[in-house]
Amino acid sequence: MGPLGEGQSLPYTWRAMTTPLHFPETPRPAPRRPTPLVSQDAADRQTVRIDLAERSYAIAIGSGLLSDPEAFSSLPPGHCALVVSNTTVAPLYLERLEQLLAGRYAQRCSVVLPDGEAYKTWQSLQLIFDALLRNHCDRSTVLFALGGGVVGDMTGFAAASYMRGVPFVQVPTTLLAQVDSSVGGKTGINHPLGKNMIGAFHQPLLVVCDLDTLDTLPERELSAGLAEIIKYGPIYDMEFMAWLEDQVDALRARDRAALAHAVRRSCEIKAAVVGADEREAGLRAILNFGHTFGHAVESGLGYGVWLHGEGVGVGMLMAAELSRRLGLVDVGFCARLQALVQRAGLPLRAPVLDANDNAGRYLELMRVDKKAQGGEIRFVLIDGPGQAVLRSAPDALVREVVDACCAPA
Ligand SMILES: NC(=O)c1ccc[n+]([C@@H]2O[C@H](COP(=O)([O-])OP(=O)(O)OC[C@H]3O[C@@H](n4cnc5c(N)ncnc54)[C@H](O)[C@@H]3O)[C@@H](O)[C@H]2O)c1
Repeated sequence: MGPLGEGQSLPYTWRAMTTPLHFPETPRPAPRRPTPLVSQDAADRQTVRIDLAERSYAIAIGSGLLSDPEAFSSLPPGHCALVVSNTTVAPLYLERLEQLLAGRYAQRCSVVLPDGEAYKTWQSLQLIFDALLRNHCDRSTVLFALGGGVVGDMTGFAAASYMRGVPFVQVPTTLLAQVDSSVGGKTGINHPLGKNMIGAFHQPLLVVCDLDTLDTLPERELSAGLAEIIKYGPIYDMEFMAWLEDQVDALRARDRAALAHAVRRSCEIKAAVVGADEREAGLRAILNFGHTFGHAVESGLGYGVWLHGEGVGVGMLMAAELSRRLGLVDVGFCARLQALVQRAGLPLRAPVLDANDNAGRYLELMRVDKKAQGGEIRFVLIDGPGQAVLRSAPDALVREVVDACCAPA
């Protein structure tokens, strides 16, 4: 499925919940670029637009944006800005962002949260509310999320609920957050019994992806971000998957041009999907390819042991294997995906979560997934390369997949 041409919409068929939900391929407009979703601002800067009527916003992508007031010039004037960051990112970039905001907001404050998925909790959320109230932040306050997906998800949720909703801006500093979590308005926190189970839809006013911030990202985190990029190929755009196969080494070497293209194309695809299905009534679920198995890994091991992207990487391989066992893709497709996941530096084998009944433990955890209905797990599967389908599978088959994909090899 390629980028949308003007006047085209993303078709998907809604069927009874007991039957698979298909997302058939859209006729491809040629040539692929330029796409109407992207505008070139300067040589190395681009803007992708999320089209959601009055909730529309821009994603600015480029180098040096965190030092450029222009990047934030579209924001409406306000009195107070609260920057939310964490103990790792704040020392690196908070001062720079605060300087930039000094020209726009009379009152500026910040809150620095503990770092890590394990802190995506009510307690951290409470720290944000404490900062807002202590600083007498009113309804016109703008929250800024400076950090990865954890900070972004929590800041967005705080913004969705403080005084029943205040605006917020995403300033993502991980690859994963730039290509996925900062875009689309899903916000929330984890519950010990399930990942991202408490949250709200709340779209940001603006997303600013400064590619320079990726220079300080640990290698393991860069690989985790690649997982969320790779997912866009099998579910939507096999040309992009071929490009990734060609450019994965450049991406791991943090080549600016390669990163710019990967972030832009990922945001374009996410923009198209979210623009067609903002609240996940159907199509948007395809963005969860690999996440049903991946979330089980994350919550089963305890949040933060495996990175989210690592869970997604191995989860995509498990979902592809389930697709193969259901006759939807061939072994060649699975091998191709596995080779790319491996070259991205991601684990290939899922962890054992329970020595006694490992598959049973996976099934138990996956029944808490948000896509599950009436206790029936629904997986995003690949129904031929570039096309996703949402459907259930017999427990016995899922058990076989877990047994085949879990360590040791
Ligand atoms: N809302 C959504 O649509 C959506 C989509 C995908 C993932 N997510 C969520 O995103 C989270 C994962 O995000 P993540 O991978 O960004 O993890 P993260 O936010 O934990 O960041 C990863 C690590 O990198 C550090 N870091 C961030 N930026 C840095 C930089 N520039 N330099 C050095 N270190 C830096 C962080 O402090 C952290 O230690 C998960 O909680 C996941 O559920 C949400």
